[in-house]
Amino acid sequence: MTHVMHRLLKTPYPRAVGGDGPYLIDSTGKRYIDSASGAGVSCLGHSAASVSDAIARQTKELGYVYNAYFTTDVLERFADALVEMTPQGLDWVFPGSGGSESMDGALKLALQFHDENGQPQRRKFISRRQSYHGCTIGALSVSGNRMRRMLFEKFLPETIQISPCYEYRDRRVDETAEAYSQRLANELDAEIERQGPDTVAAFVAETVVGATAGSIPPTPDYFRLIKKVCEKHGVLFIADEILSGCGRTGTYLSIEQDGVTPDLAVVAKGLGAGYQPLSAILVSDKIVQTIASGRGFFFHGHTYNGHATAAAAGLAVIETIRERKLLDNVRNMGALMIDRLNDRLGNHPHVGNIRGRGLLIGVELVQDRATKKPFAGERMLWNAIQKAAFARGLLCYPGFGTADGVDGDHVLLAPPFIINEDHVGEIVDKLAPSIDEALTQTGKAA
Ligand SMILES: Cc1ncc(COP(=O)(O)O)c(C=O)c1O
Repeated sequence: MTHVMHRLLKTPYPRAVGGDGPYLIDSTGKRYIDSASGAGVSCLGHSAASVSDAIARQTKELGYVYNAYFTTDVLERFADALVEMTPQGLDWVFPGSGGSESMDGALKLALQFHDENGQPQRRKFISRRQSYHGCTIGALSVSGNRMRRMLFEKFLPETIQISPCYEYRDRRVDETAEAYSQRLANELDAEIERQGPDTVAAFVAETVVGATAGSIPPTPDYFRLIKKVCEKHGVLFIADEILSGCGRTGTYLSIEQDGVTPDLAVVAKGLGAGYQPLSAILVSDKIVQTIASGRGFFFHGHTYNGHATAAAAGLAVIETIRERKLLDNVRNMGALMIDRLNDRLGNHPHVGNIRGRGLLIGVELVQDRATKKPFAGERMLWNAIQKAAFARGLLCYPGFGTADGVDGDHVLLAPPFIINEDHVGEIVDKLAPSIDEALTQTGKAA
């Protein structure tokens, strides 16, 4: 009997009781290797003493102050450290407690920026199909994923969706990657023109598409060309780095690898590494100065923005990443994981594509490798993979609707940054038979 309203209301949940590096332990003593860091969160694993000690120290000193009245040393130090980690041009931190919350804040910052700038008519947001930016009304309204929107569609503010950058499915055989990037940038340009350039507030995109399509990195040049189009029309570019940020792809922000500085970037998940709920909007100086010289305050705020204990956790996470040089490990283990997956699954008849950046990796499953035909959504292959992996002591993050929002399956791997070669081997050794078992169980001929 439970009084907790869990997400799944018909399924009993195992009870997690402890953690040991990249492993979670349940109440029966069973150990699970966490190849997804929960949902891309626990980047330091489940027993990072540097973070739990920092939290304990902070709660003894001062747990919380109201952000309308005070700042704290720990919040200032956290913001300094975060700005130091991020590309030049993102010099301000608006802290929060979760990805969706901060994504809503970023949308409102864009609206307020244009309003202060004498362009209050810029109210439209353009994002991409197959995207996920969060479950609050604002964040969901710019999310392109059909399944996640479905139930709430009529209540969502209208936004505009264009094509994602999905090379495996959408680049034509006769097209170079550069030409494909240019085609997508042209699509954004045409859409802004169609909407009326002075009505568009911002373009929103995940730097690496995460949970809804299984780690799809952009093609080279894609974001550079997209940013050029945004600049041409005075449209802000909001990078959703909630999953891909904080070191997950081998640089602190993934967008650094695309040679672009967004106007706003949102980070969450790995920021507090799961030890505290923590997120942040990274804001360019242009936006802050415009608001500072206008109304002088951001028309938005939550009770827990700038929470001292969460900031202590965030600071300790950044320090741990730096001291242990974990971004090097992310790059090395990410490359190794892709190699091992290719060795083991590269010729599998139902593995269509293995891709990723750093330790954000996707395996896309297909009915037919030649045609890339996905499995039907109702087959729920992803769910069977999750169950088969769970039974083997592997936590992974399978998803559905990969191909078009309804059909298709993938497995997302986003293990903690602290993994070593043995952990990579264990993950691949447990994933491969889980995929085969799920295919057999759900019937190969769907
Ligand atoms: C890319 C992306 N954006 C936004 C969110 C929403 O963040 P949260 O669940 O912390 O509200 C997620 C969560 O999975 C995400 O992966």
